[in-house]
Amino acid sequence: MLPCTFLVFALFTLAGALPHSTKRQSNQKYVVAHHIVGNTYPYTVTDWANDISMASAHGIDAFALNVGNLDWEVDRVADAYTAAENAGNGFKLFFSFDMSSLPCTAPEHASYLVGNVTQYAAHPSQFKYDNLVFVSTFAGESCQFGQGSVVEGWQTQFIDKLTGTNAVYFMPSFMIDPATFTTYNGVMNGAFNWNSGWPISLTTDVANQQLSAAGTSLDNLNAAGEDILKSFIGSTDTDNTYLNGLSAMSQSTSRGYMAAVSPWFFTHYGPDTYNKNWIYPADWHLYPRRWQNLVSLRDKVDIVEIVTWNDYGESHYIGPIEGAQPNSQAWVDGFDHQGWLDMSPYFITGFKTGSYPAITQDKIYLWARPHPRTATASADPVGPPTSYQVDQDQLWAVVMTTAASNVTLSTSSSNSQSFNVGAGVSLLNMPLTPGGSMSGVIARGGQNVASLSPSGYTFDPNPTVYNYNAFVAYTP
Ligand SMILES: *[C@@H]1O[C@H](CO)[C@@H](O)[C@H](O)[C@H]1NC(C)=O
Ligand SMILES: *[C@@H]1O[C@H](CO)[C@@H](O)[C@H](O)[C@H]1NC(C)=O
Repeated sequence: MLPCTFLVFALFTLAGALPHSTKRQSNQKYVVAHHIVGNTYPYTVTDWANDISMASAHGIDAFALNVGNLDWEVDRVADAYTAAENAGNGFKLFFSFDMSSLPCTAPEHASYLVGNVTQYAAHPSQFKYDNLVFVSTFAGESCQFGQGSVVEGWQTQFIDKLTGTNAVYFMPSFMIDPATFTTYNGVMNGAFNWNSGWPISLTTDVANQQLSAAGTSLDNLNAAGEDILKSFIGSTDTDNTYLNGLSAMSQSTSRGYMAAVSPWFFTHYGPDTYNKNWIYPADWHLYPRRWQNLVSLRDKVDIVEIVTWNDYGESHYIGPIEGAQPNSQAWVDGFDHQGWLDMSPYFITGFKTGSYPAITQDKIYLWARPHPRTATASADPVGPPTSYQVDQDQLWAVVMTTAASNVTLSTSSSNSQSFNVGAGVSLLNMPLTPGGSMSGVIARGGQNVASLSPSGYTFDPNPTVYNYNAFVAYTP
């Protein structure tokens, strides 16, 4: 015991003038999910209780409450905290201030944030990290709160106002070059890498250049081309860039890293509304592949944030379709994503513990877009989304198998492929068939042990509107 006690004493002595934090006190890992409060207008405490119970049952520890500038959002936040406390299951909440929506040009704008943090700092359901009140953001890299610089704004109007039991562990998702993190030594305890959820560098131009150099193309992809595209999917290059930026910061306090994982991205608003119409590539099993890579990198990742629980507008929800959609019904209704929620506990356990749980039930997950990537929609004034060319017309499948199996995927009555898989998780795919559907069977020893043939899905070669969202089905 003595050398250990001495070492702790020595570290404290060396660290000397620590403000209010020390090195991370545990290696415990957390998984949280981004919850858009702006989509919860009709929510009651019961609706929050249902989300919390469902998230908790799938291994999620907390919701990041994305709060924007709508005045009723503070009431929904209050209900969420009430529901979390009532749940009594240890589920936590924290603010993720949406700085693309909240004003941040004057000191009083920071005082709202300070007021919000203070209001819940001592709440039993407040998520804490290193015993500090955990706070995150979406963006905020331009906020000066009336001061001379972004650093001064956040430092003097936010961080310095939160002391004692209100002191924060601040992990914003400032969209800045990680090489500049050192400028934020006093502001950022760590960083949330929002865009790490998608291979955002895989634009159509980049795909075309890299594929053509390898003698292939998006329209006629060969195996080498597949490997090029897959190398972008779920890549940890951006995590490592962030980790380098964090390790260059002053190490007198802990520097946490929060990575993102996301299943999809498609948003389709015309110039008359939000004016955003693009995809980020999510083919090649982005969600499970990114999870697998994060499990491999788990020694360096403290928290994973699932992006998102309920962002319908950008099609990356894994929770049920409920609340109030941000005018996204055209691409969301009928496109349930809870299969991705259902497969999450396997990866969450892998991330938290370092070993994947045993698979005790044979399961099939299938997903696909509802029309060919190059289809022309007959009545869509908005046009196809930027980067749609990178998509491939494939049925994506994940099977979880208790033992070696024969798996058959079908995209029409005359179009099937078979795969021999070992026990464990297998990522499979086959071409979609225009006019066809999707189904899958796991067989072992001549018996079907799981099968899935969802209704409500057709791969429609003649769509009226563009929809690059995913239809996700799974065996219950
Ligand atoms: C929380 O922030 C909102 C603005 O987003 C503000 O209206 C409200 O007064 C704040 N609450 C407190 C307790 O400061
Ligand atoms: C898969 O199918 C082949 C051919 O029918 C059969 O020989 C083999 O035993 C099957 N494998 C399993 C795990 O059922």
